[in-house]
Amino acid sequence: MFKLTSNVTRIQPPPISEVRDWLAESAQRRAPLIDLCQAVPDYPPAPDLLERLQAALNDPQIARYTPDEGLPDVRESVSRWYARRYMAGPSASEICLTIGASQAFWLAMTLLCQAGDEVLVQSPAYFDHPMGLQALGVKPVYISYDPENPEPDFERLSALVTEKSRALLLVTPSNPTGYQLSAASIRQLFSFCSEQKIALVLDETYNAFADGVPHSLFADPKWSDTFIQIASFGKTFSLTGFRAGALVAGREVIRQALKVQDSMAVCQPRLTQLAIQYGCDRLDQWVIENAGMMRRRHDLFCQTFLQAGNRFELAASGAFFAWVRHPWPQLDSRQAARKLLDEADMISLPGAAFGPDLDSYLRLAFGNIRGEEIPEAIARLVALG
Ligand SMILES: Cc1ncc(COP(=O)(O)O)c(C=O)c1O
Repeated sequence: MFKLTSNVTRIQPPPISEVRDWLAESAQRRAPLIDLCQAVPDYPPAPDLLERLQAALNDPQIARYTPDEGLPDVRESVSRWYARRYMAGPSASEICLTIGASQAFWLAMTLLCQAGDEVLVQSPAYFDHPMGLQALGVKPVYISYDPENPEPDFERLSALVTEKSRALLLVTPSNPTGYQLSAASIRQLFSFCSEQKIALVLDETYNAFADGVPHSLFADPKWSDTFIQIASFGKTFSLTGFRAGALVAGREVIRQALKVQDSMAVCQPRLTQLAIQYGCDRLDQWVIENAGMMRRRHDLFCQTFLQAGNRFELAASGAFFAWVRHPWPQLDSRQAARKLLDEADMISLPGAAFGPDLDSYLRLAFGNIRGEEIPEAIARLVALG
């Protein structure tokens, strides 16, 4: 048989598929499953957005390619959305619509890195990032995790930069910890990366759920010399299956990115572009209400979690996630997640999926379940502990 590249064969399996496989092979449920596995808003898209898309299906144009970077008027709508969310933002020509944030990440990394290069990533890292880097032959260099101090430690960061470093890649609010970097820290990280001549790449998939204005980088006339943003509208408008993302970067970066875009995807589907446009033009209030609901869900989760008798420990939380320490030192995180499934009919993600030395953690994505289910979820954890 032909040989597959070890760049790929040595990567861990996709963690969510791994957990879903456990589910398929595990015994019958004793109680209804509580799914804290994948970070997906549990609510449907706005009904008026779906109506708009239904009407669009009658137009034969819907089945056609668009320009590689997306339709100009859709990118104008996205640009205006940024101006409202960030109080400043990219112009339409600084936006390339992509197949989810996932493809924007691949565009960014393909543009920045070649095999043998290094990218600094948070620990815990969003698992798809190290997985993608490894597939490209790029080394993810983990910034060690200090749960007591999640803000950047510049001494530690400086020590990790080498002549092979190409980017500092961060997720804010973080998946899996939910931690939102402050605007001031992001500014400092920008200056740091600018001095080091590496790119600051922020994955802001959860920006609609962030508190306040996420940062002010776009107000800097020279933002695009250092900054690249990976964006998703999947969580914002509850359209994860539409694969609604964007790469936001300087014009020259976008111009180069289109060479990869053309060979990788050609363009984001037209229907997705119309969905994004409708969301950006019409759904500010809908997004604010859902973000508010998610914040209340977060508060309820944390409050209930901290009740007496729960031996799990809340290490961090925010956006859609609680990052918790499980109470079984003798178990690694995969065994702990398996125990949650076998004994409490709950699925979660093992800490080890997010990087080395994280076996004492689990990620619980409460964004996936309704507020009414939270007390039952926590009661099951308490019963287990
Ligand atoms: C941090 C982060 N980036 C990117 C993605 C993927 O986003 P998309 O569905 O837009 O590709 C996710 C999905 O959960 C995520 O958590």
